[in-house]
Amino acid sequence: MKIGVYQFYPEWGQKEQNLLKIREAIYFHKNVDLWVLPELCTTGYQFTSKAELTALAEEFPDGETAHEIMQMTADLQNALIIGVAEKAGSDVFNSAAVFEKGNFLGTYRKIHLFYKEKNYFTPGEEIPRVFDIMGARVGVMICFDWIFPETARTLALQGAELLAHSANLVLPYCQQAMITRSIENRCFTVTANRIGSEERDGEKLVFTGMSQATDYTGVRLAQLKEDEEKVLIADMDLALANNKNITTMNHLFEDRRINLYK
Ligand code: ACM
Repeated sequence: MKIGVYQFYPEWGQKEQNLLKIREAIYFHKNVDLWVLPELCTTGYQFTSKAELTALAEEFPDGETAHEIMQMTADLQNALIIGVAEKAGSDVFNSAAVFEKGNFLGTYRKIHLFYKEKNYFTPGEEIPRVFDIMGARVGVMICFDWIFPETARTLALQGAELLAHSANLVLPYCQQAMITRSIENRCFTVTANRIGSEERDGEKLVFTGMSQATDYTGVRLAQLKEDEEKVLIADMDLALANNKNITTMNHLFEDRRINLYK
């Protein structure tokens, strides 16, 4: 399965322009089966009020962004996971929306909010889930979820072959940590990060780029640079992730001593 990441510099508040860039990238690489795009990559990341966030957020699948992506994935017969601001009643979630061949499969609403996201977003209350996408089992997680290994494990225990990780990373440790998430769960991973910086209300955040793909043993298959706007494509034999035997006598899940963990 060919997994594509588009690492780019989303312009804050410029949804149309950002979607146009995404469209250009994915139409240029028609052989990709599943795209993973960065967190909040249509709206930008930093907000200074709930009203500002709400004005840019959309309902899924009823909003413009969802309609546009449904049309793209129908046209290209592929799948796409994208970080969005999802409006639901008076709440706004930091979500990843999942589409396959013109259909909306659902959203994952980020459960671990980072820093000032806590001021404006509502945390997701649903167990992180695995989606059946293009014949593969894909667990979806968003950015700061990486620092809670329970997220990746919850997805792996549901049979995730690939962890699709949509991100706007600012701390320097994640790309290394995702190698560990991969090893400890024997899952392929792909982290789609953004580049550039945002300065809002006197606070500047710099995003780390370095989007990457790993295989199910933690080997890095490809990685982008910290400042390049570019597509990464990794070819993955995802069925390999179903082999949870570490040695002939050690099974990743069966050897857990859950009665001894607290
Ligand atoms: C993050 O969760 N966007 C750091």
